[in-house]
Amino acid sequence: MTVWPYPVVCGTDNKLRGSFCFDGVVCYTCKMSDVVSKVVNTFRQKFPSNPVLIKAPGRINLMGEHTDYNEGFVLPAAIDRAIYFAMSPSQTDRCNVYSLDMEEGVSFSIHDLNPGETWVNYLMGVIDGFGRAGVRIHGVDCVFGGDIPAGAGLSSSAALCNGFGMGLNHLFQANLSRLQLAKLSQHAEHEFVGLQCGIMDQYSSLMGQQQSALLLDCRALQHEVIPVHLGAYSLLLIDTKVKHTLASSAYNDRRRACEQGVAVIHQHHPEVQSLRDVSRAMLYEFQDKLGEDVFIKCLYVVEEINRAQRAATHLKKGELVEFGKLMYETHWGLSQAYEVSCDESDFLVSLAEEEKDSVLGARMMGGGFGGCTLNLIQTEKIKSFREKVLHQYVATFKKEPDFYLVNLTQGVSIIPAP
Ligand code: GLA
Repeated sequence: MTVWPYPVVCGTDNKLRGSFCFDGVVCYTCKMSDVVSKVVNTFRQKFPSNPVLIKAPGRINLMGEHTDYNEGFVLPAAIDRAIYFAMSPSQTDRCNVYSLDMEEGVSFSIHDLNPGETWVNYLMGVIDGFGRAGVRIHGVDCVFGGDIPAGAGLSSSAALCNGFGMGLNHLFQANLSRLQLAKLSQHAEHEFVGLQCGIMDQYSSLMGQQQSALLLDCRALQHEVIPVHLGAYSLLLIDTKVKHTLASSAYNDRRRACEQGVAVIHQHHPEVQSLRDVSRAMLYEFQDKLGEDVFIKCLYVVEEINRAQRAATHLKKGELVEFGKLMYETHWGLSQAYEVSCDESDFLVSLAEEEKDSVLGARMMGGGFGGCTLNLIQTEKIKSFREKVLHQYVATFKKEPDFYLVNLTQGVSIIPAP
């Protein structure tokens, strides 16, 4: 199914702004209600009880990339693409879970959590986290499915953990806070998947607010809500369709480089606990001791922590042109200094830069090595830009990128069944 990537009014629901039905192409709004119905109907076919329904959104990140695990600032937002869960207690200690997208079901005991190679790891990691938090839970029947493209850098895995965690929290009245749930989802990634990720994805998918981004202080684990008013502009994601198999080991390498930098500076400045505490001047002072690679990586992070804060200020003042410039800066920092981009993302950002008057900013987003670029684009130019990108990207890389318009939404929620 093609999802039309620019706003025209949908015949079936013209209340929501977004990518709507047009010429037989199904809009986001209609597609979403399709997914929810499918999840609920499948649950009813497989299991005897009435489920609770949970919506767990993916996220974008407006600014602050690879800063979360350095206790810096990030500026993410939950988006209107989500994973939906239908869940109810199984009345035993077994979890019987069916993934609609994988067309695959599993059954395991909550007392026998053996991580394997699949999506089940995430769920087992969440269950393990409840155990470690001292919360007693039981098994569940569960069906889930959604429309967050996997591997596109939109945090489908955080949505998977968060939604499942929220379901367990609700069904077994565990009373864990949203912050505790975010940490528990992060635990699942660290211990059951092996990605030493920061907390941005889990936090923003849980705490997101309608039409807003969160300026999250990853040290204090507190956020400020930043309303996002884009006026004549939209947020357009372009999916490179590149999924790098080494992404998680490269991610862990970057994290280690930052830690090495901190260790060197800490010897001379004991107050320095993370790159959050490091200034540009300090980095230059220890440039020789750090070594070239660690120096360059740390410099990118220190600058990006600063950019995230400036970006939030620009957004608050409605200074979209200045905001967009920072997006381009971030991209080339990620590409040339932090070295987590790829040819496809660089190509898309370069095409955007050729249209700077209408594409105010563009950058790769998330961990890197593929996934989506985020573009801040004049809404009326989306159609022509899409055509240009499609043509040139296909000619160069022999594959079609996908386009998704996104709106900013509230975080994980329990929703009424259709
Ligand atoms: C991934 C991680 C996040 C964050 C980003 C980069 O999405 O899960 O914690 O580090 O990469 O900003």
